[in-house]
Formats: sequence, C-alpha cells, structure tokens
Amino acid sequence: MKKVTAIYPGSFDPLTNGHLDLIERGSKIFDELIVAILRNPEKLALFSLAERKEMMTAMTERWENVRVDTFDGLMVDYAVRVKASAVLRGIRAISDYEYELQMALMNRKLSPNLETVFMIPAEAYSYLSSRLVREIAQLGGNVDGLVPELVQQRLREKMDPAHKFESWETPRKSRAKKP
Ligand code: PNS
Repeated sequence: MKKVTAIYPGSFDPLTNGHLDLIERGSKIFDELIVAILRNPEKLALFSLAERKEMMTAMTERWENVRVDTFDGLMVDYAVRVKASAVLRGIRAISDYEYELQMALMNRKLSPNLETVFMIPAEAYSYLSSRLVREIAQLGGNVDGLVPELVQQRLREKMDPAHKFESWETPRKSRAKKP
C-alpha cells in the first residue's frame, strides 16, 4: 500500500504544547510526518531557525515517524521536493477557519494533488498560540503548561541571558537591581 507522507508547516516561534498535541495526532494517521519550519526573512522571529529546529527536534524525537526540516519559498514546492501528498494544519477555533480555508484553497490551486488535512488539538490548547506565548514571556508572565519545559528554559534565557549562568552566579533574587 502507498505510504503517505505529510508535512506540518509553520513558524513554530516557539513551538507550543498545542503543536506537539497536533504532531502526536498526525503521527498516528500518517506514515511519515515532516515538521517543516518556515525560514521567513521578512518576519522578525524571536528564535532563530536553528534554535526552533533544535527545540522541535528534541521535543519530537519520541515519535519514530516524525522528522524536522526547514524550508523557504512556496510550501507546495517544498511538498513536491519531499514527496508529501498531504499538509497538516491545526484548527483551534472558528476564527482560524477563514485564514486556513483561504490558504488551503490557494495551495490547492497551486498544487491540486496536495491535500490539506485539518486536525483539532485538545480543547485545553484551543486558546494557545505562539504569539501569545511570546508576548506573555516578554512581559514576564508564566507560560507553565503552555510550552514544554525546554522551551520555557529557552524563553527565560532569551529574556534574560544572565539566567543561563545562574547556577554558578549569585542567586537571582538577591542580585542587585540595576537602577
Ligand atoms: O505558523 P504559521 O505562521 O501560521 O504558518 C504559516 C505557513 C508557514 C504555513 C504559511 O505561511 C506558508 O505556507 N508559507 C510558505 C509560503 C507559501 O507557500 N505561501 C503561500 C500560502 S497559500
């Protein structure tokens, strides 16, 4: 029987537990799932492409049929290169639908044989987005439960590079505040 390879394209800046939920669901229905991280020079990203790939690779190594890649240019062209016949996208709420429908129909116009498959993440993640995670982290809020521990750690390092060295520095709380 024909093996079905799907790509799960996105910015993943950063990856969230909602993305991982979708990857797990996708890994169960596709023979191979390629998480394809977009290299978009126009969009100012919080994490570099290499950082996003490294985090995604670490968080998806538990699924044997999932691999991580990066791409630029048209997603439909990338799909041809990796011989994918489906594109996985998540729909959290009706508000996602309009944008996703437009993108799916445009991709169908560009590549009629590439099917977009929509999956719904767990309800617990229906309000979760990378944009909100970035905003909360940048404003010092708590993203516990929204992203994996590894991503939390990387967010802390991004916001406060000194955090990386805390284990051998003066404990954070007692550090003198800058004026
Ligand atoms: O995580 P995002 O930002 O919602 O993902 C959007 C993504 C990467 C799927 C979309 O922007 C994309 O496919 N970009 C590649 C360029 C492309 O093919 N554009 C035409 C879309 S119809």
